Amino acid sequence: MADLFVAKVGDIADRDRRVVADGDLEIGVFRLGDDFFAWENNCPHMGGPVCQGKVMNRVNEVLDDGKKSHGFEFVEADVHIICPWHGFEFNIRTGVHPGESSTQLTKYEVVVRDGDIYVRT
Ligand code: FES
Repeated sequence: MADLFVAKVGDIADRDRRVVADGDLEIGVFRLGDDFFAWENNCPHMGGPVCQGKVMNRVNEVLDDGKKSHGFEFVEADVHIICPWHGFEFNIRTGVHPGESSTQLTKYEVVVRDGDIYVRT
């Protein structure tokens, strides 16, 4: 195992990311508040560069008891990355697709040491 330098903590803003490479392996490191999450930049759908997609909150449709729609709302607690190839979404904290829990990103460990962020490969 090796620790691959990603960035200084202060260089990644909240809800931003850095994608780093170690040979053919690409890993996206995301910041949500003071937490960091690392996922292989390889979408489980068809291998797209999932970590380079848009970051946005989960969208829920608001339904009443009769299942009539009252529009959509953002879910503040769930931040997703959206694969740029075909739109599969993954929760940045868990790496899990919201509609199919068996579809998941490959996780890597993040190490923060002396103000520097590393990903363990
Ligand atoms: S490759 Fe990511 S959604 Fe298809």
